[in-house]
Amino acid sequence: MTELSFGSKKIYGEAAFEVLARAQELERKGKKILHFEIGEPDIETPENIVQAGIKAIKNKKTHYVPSVGLLELRKAVQDEIEKTRGYRPDLSQIVITPGLKPGIFFSMLAIVNPGDEVIYQDPGYPTYGSVSSFIGAKEILVPLLEENEFRMNPDDIEERITKKTKLIIINSPQNPTGSVMTKSELEQIAELAEQHNIFIVSDEIYSKMTYESKHFTATKRDEAKKRSVLLDGFSKYYAMTGWRLGYMITPKKMAERLQDFLVSAVSCTASFTQYAGVEALTGDQSFIPEMMKRFKEKRDKIVKGLNTVPGFSCKTPKGAFYTFPNIKKTGMTSEECANHLLYKAGVAALPGTAFGPYGEGYLRFSYATTLENVELAINKINDSLE
Ligand SMILES: Cc1ncc(COP(=O)(O)O)c(C=O)c1O
Repeated sequence: MTELSFGSKKIYGEAAFEVLARAQELERKGKKILHFEIGEPDIETPENIVQAGIKAIKNKKTHYVPSVGLLELRKAVQDEIEKTRGYRPDLSQIVITPGLKPGIFFSMLAIVNPGDEVIYQDPGYPTYGSVSSFIGAKEILVPLLEENEFRMNPDDIEERITKKTKLIIINSPQNPTGSVMTKSELEQIAELAEQHNIFIVSDEIYSKMTYESKHFTATKRDEAKKRSVLLDGFSKYYAMTGWRLGYMITPKKMAERLQDFLVSAVSCTASFTQYAGVEALTGDQSFIPEMMKRFKEKRDKIVKGLNTVPGFSCKTPKGAFYTFPNIKKTGMTSEECANHLLYKAGVAALPGTAFGPYGEGYLRFSYATTLENVELAINKINDSLE
């Protein structure tokens, strides 16, 4: 076969899907597996949102819509940003995308050139590295240290800034560690970006999923007008991963260019999904605090449980639904430990190295499961390590 041209550009996948495939293979062979590998809430999309999507389809809202998104949804996003981030973006700054992920891809394509340097967290969400490497940018990693509760330290960013630095990617609440950066840390990073004329892309997909503190955005400083891009979406806290719906708040000029990107790549985001999105943002929100209350119980249970496992120690994460235990004292590498848990305990978790080299010595557990499964998994892990 002729060599595919994108073979030369290093775009890569996600370990979560690989581990899921291995776990499912074991399930096909009759083994019972407890799943802690996939990052999606264990609840269904709320009924009012589902009905809004169905109603849109029945009302024949099944045609092309503007590439930047439905005006109705962009207006709802405008109100949402004002309410939750404390500034009101202009409608011309708001672009709807099929999930948050295209927002990462498109904003990086718009900002970064080959040879530019991109600063981001390690361990961190694999897409940032994948897209950087696809573009031919230099990846500059900021280690997230357990001693700093896995928060990115602005001083570490400052040390890494050079003339070639084009972009700093922020993700708080964070995947895979569940860390939440403080308002002052985020303000410091925004200040650094301004001083050095560097872009910020702020991935806020877990924005409504904090346990102890209120969410804050580093885009507040310039209100996404000059050098920052806010990305958020419906996948996680509205339990809409499969609907594919997200949004970008970007400088106006960039939004204009993004329109062409969207036209070339996707034409537009699915129309009926966007109507469901309007309902998600403007309808009843009470299920979110209820969901977070249940997540907090699960978080506390899994952290307590993981701390009983020989060789494991686990900090309490402040956001999202991930926990990132240290497994160094087991004497195994992350990969060996994840394999041990999968094959010997029937528990699927991800090796920390799936999120970058600084993830060595850790595992990621997504605790979007039941309290019973958490208890069962801890017992099985403990038994397997006896
Ligand atoms: C940090 C982060 N950003 C983006 C995404 C992807 O979001 P979406 O499914 O809306 O594309 C995820 C999903 O796991 C994530 O953890």
